[in-house]
Amino acid sequence: MLISMIVAYGNNWQIGLNNKLLWYIKEDLKKFKDLTQGHHIIMGRKTFLSINKVLNKRTNIVLSKTNFYHEDIHTCNSIKEALDFCKKNKEREVFIIGGAEIYELSFPYINKLYLTQVNYDGIADTYLQKINFKSWLCEKKEFHKEVMQNEKVKTLAWTYSIYNKLHSTH
Ligand SMILES: NC(=O)c1ccc[n+]([C@@H]2O[C@H](COP(=O)([O-])OP(=O)(O)OC[C@H]3O[C@@H](n4cnc5c(N)ncnc54)[C@H](OP(=O)(O)O)[C@@H]3O)[C@@H](O)[C@H]2O)c1
Repeated sequence: MLISMIVAYGNNWQIGLNNKLLWYIKEDLKKFKDLTQGHHIIMGRKTFLSINKVLNKRTNIVLSKTNFYHEDIHTCNSIKEALDFCKKNKEREVFIIGGAEIYELSFPYINKLYLTQVNYDGIADTYLQKINFKSWLCEKKEFHKEVMQNEKVKTLAWTYSIYNKLHSTH
């Protein structure tokens, strides 16, 4: 089973502020939707509360150390339990969708990365741990320029890339 991480981060590895995302990039959100629909997705309880709804056409798994309950989601108490659940359901590719705590604890299991690096220098309170790309091979890189509207930045510049883990054992 592929265990993929999908994340958008700024120039200083920022990913969130006040339990919200830091930017709005419509095309990137569409990529997220197209990639994850039909699959299991795993997220932390805080990310689930920040999205504030079940993401449709996906099996939503929420990680919590408590007995967190919400209809239409599956709660797991550990990443291992969540991954076993996906394997039992014969998932081909599961997506770890955040936030920082869940990226960190699942990183050792991850064998594919879908990264959106945003040209954002603003403040944040949640950060992704830096990725050391030495053990990763780039499959794809796309550059997207800043989009202006009425002399204001409408969409920040962003780079989308896909990496595969070298010598993956999972
Ligand atoms: N830019 C992006 O791509 C992106 C993607 C996703 C999220 N975000 C942002 O990231 C921020 C949220 O991230 P976060 O790190 O604060 O929270 P989070 O990772 O979404 O959720 C943290 C929660 O996960 C549960 N958890 C943590 N470790 C666990 C373990 N070992 N076993 C079981 N459950 C565990 C705990 O829930 P309990 O407290 O219930 O035990 C914990 O409070 C928000 O700002 C969000 O917008 C950004």
